[in-house]
Amino acid sequence: MRILLLGSGGREHALAWKLSQSVWANPLYIAPGNPGTAQHGINVDLDITEFHSIGKFCIKEKIEMIVVGPEEPLVNGLYDYFKSNEGLKKIYFIGPSRKGALLEGSKAFAKEFMQRHHIPTAAYREFTINNYEEGIKYLKEHALPIVIKADGLAGGKGVAICTHHLEAIAEFELMIQEAKFGEAGKKVVVEEFLKGIELSVFVITDGKNYLLLPEAKDYKRAREGDTGLNTGGMGAVSPVPFATPDFMHKVEERIIRPTIAGLDKEKIDYVGFLFFGLISVQGEPYIIEYNCRMGDPETEVIIPRLESDLVGLLIAATQHELKKTQIRVDKRSVATVMAVCRGYPITYQKGLVITGLEEKFGKQSLVFQAGTAKQDGNIVTKGGRVFCVSSYADTITEAVNTSLDVMEYIDFDGMNYRTDIGFEFK
Ligand code: AMP
Ligand code: GLY
Repeated sequence: MRILLLGSGGREHALAWKLSQSVWANPLYIAPGNPGTAQHGINVDLDITEFHSIGKFCIKEKIEMIVVGPEEPLVNGLYDYFKSNEGLKKIYFIGPSRKGALLEGSKAFAKEFMQRHHIPTAAYREFTINNYEEGIKYLKEHALPIVIKADGLAGGKGVAICTHHLEAIAEFELMIQEAKFGEAGKKVVVEEFLKGIELSVFVITDGKNYLLLPEAKDYKRAREGDTGLNTGGMGAVSPVPFATPDFMHKVEERIIRPTIAGLDKEKIDYVGFLFFGLISVQGEPYIIEYNCRMGDPETEVIIPRLESDLVGLLIAATQHELKKTQIRVDKRSVATVMAVCRGYPITYQKGLVITGLEEKFGKQSLVFQAGTAKQDGNIVTKGGRVFCVSSYADTITEAVNTSLDVMEYIDFDGMNYRTDIGFEFK
């Protein structure tokens, strides 16, 4: 099967690593990819926002399956573009329709969907310039802390958790009046703060049935002990010890099943990955957000634990055969630690030479590249999150320690990483 994977991060390196192990994958193209994905397939210089170029490439190379890594092309309707084009509509498409991607692309749409299908989530209200004054009044009377979210995609930065009313009002004003997040923030969701511990749960769905992938926990804060600024993710672990069979049963019954049934009932085309950002409030699961793709860096711990052939699972999804399909999961723990640039997540320097990346670290560790590029024969930094090391072990602590050992061999100027990933599970 001729496959094209879209994206260029650590998530896509992990997906390319796994897809390339399948007997079905031949050839595997990655667009635009990174030097890490080039180890497992052929990188193609395509801009993932240019649907026309993607379509042309697919026709020229007779692509049979397209797997979309990041959310942006999905939210912008890449699926719908493919389905409305004669030459492209037969390609197996892994990723939801524009409507399905709204679960991530619009917080207000997602909240309304959750309400329609009685899925447990934080209480909320939505506001725009039209009911701005009402919003201010609502905020003044709201219990603290208050969670304020820009409706649209804001690159993970559109959420403010405010501990004072004045701060909440200021944030609200910035989003609506000053368009802090542009169009994305013209509509604002104000919601109740849920206190608990977060985890990420993923499924592959064919729109009617689903396969549950291993769960993961990611570490978003930049500094040790979950302090510092929010980032794209500094590390992750899988499995998550508090995700017991009893807890996961509640997650499936209260959140996953009603979501998939809701997609089916509302006739929303959805074949692909669906990410549930959950919070456990004293053992009861609530959903904070949906994402229409895999998480990053969660993918870098989940995919290594997946023993089944990923291409086979994705084909089964496109054929609506997930009901008959099972997955096999490695019982071991996997932890990943992300190496980031000095100054991340605010600023970072591109073009710093990375040494040691291509050493062999044994079967227990995998290095996934993220913000890297090839330059004058070297691999250099290109993004704030540069690469991560995922390791297998019998316990989370051992897996983290193994990744930390590998980190010692890789270096670039200003490289840093958290040493306390998985700290709650020691
Ligand atoms: P989101 O972009 O919706 O995932 O929000 C980003 C982060 O903000 C989440 O991962 C949570 O840590 C936090 N968050 C969002 N909504 C809530 C909420 N209602 N209660 C507590 N924390 C929240
Ligand atoms: N790690 C969270 C995300 O991918 O959105």
